[in-house]
Amino acid sequence: MSNVLIIESSARQQDSFSRQLTRQFISQWQAAHPADQVTVRDLALAPVPHLDASLLGGWMKPEGQRNADEQISLQRSNELTDELLAADVLVLAAPMYNFAIPSTLKAWLDHVLRAGVTFKYTETGPQGLLVGKKAYVLTARGGLYAGSTSDHQEPYLRQVMAFIGIHDVTFIHAEGMNLGGDFQEKGLNQAKARLSAIA
Ligand SMILES: Cc1cc2nc3c(=O)[nH]c(=O)nc-3n(C[C@H](O)[C@H](O)[C@H](O)COP(=O)(O)O)c2cc1C
Repeated sequence: MSNVLIIESSARQQDSFSRQLTRQFISQWQAAHPADQVTVRDLALAPVPHLDASLLGGWMKPEGQRNADEQISLQRSNELTDELLAADVLVLAAPMYNFAIPSTLKAWLDHVLRAGVTFKYTETGPQGLLVGKKAYVLTARGGLYAGSTSDHQEPYLRQVMAFIGIHDVTFIHAEGMNLGGDFQEKGLNQAKARLSAIA
């Protein structure tokens, strides 16, 4: 049995294209792996807080020296890292906002890229600790970005995933969601077809 963790980040619910991809992913996955545990964390419905002084202070202090605020902040952050550590498969669903990812997803990443937990510093540089996990990134974009230097989602997410040790990452982009003509339908169908073939 595997654990699948889905991170939703579209600010939209029913109208969201990235959520259409996650819905398809979940139904395909459950059909193929009925015993697996699927957990959905919706960052639009329940955003995680930005990093602040009490969290950063608490991270650095040894156990027993944290004040009450630092303790609470650390517990909330630990919940997120524990959930990620327990996952065998990670699915990040992300709309493109201003050429990159939503700030809600960035805030989540700021919690889970944790020294000593998801990566560690070694004499030869940082080393990712999340070995053996697989990730899927399902995005929706208003325009067309395949192969463009304006895409700050895929290179960034590849880098942060690799940093914590997740090298097996498959990207599926629904492109042209805000374009006229048949771009939207074609882009969505292409993404869904790719998803059907791999997940
Ligand atoms: C605040 C905001 C910023 C956006 N920035 C971009 C952008 O930089 N490039 C782009 O192609 N589309 C952009 N879009 C369009 C979305 O990527 C597109 O509507 C996508 O379908 C949103 O994902 P969702 O359908 O899952 O909500 C933006 C949309 C919003 C609301």
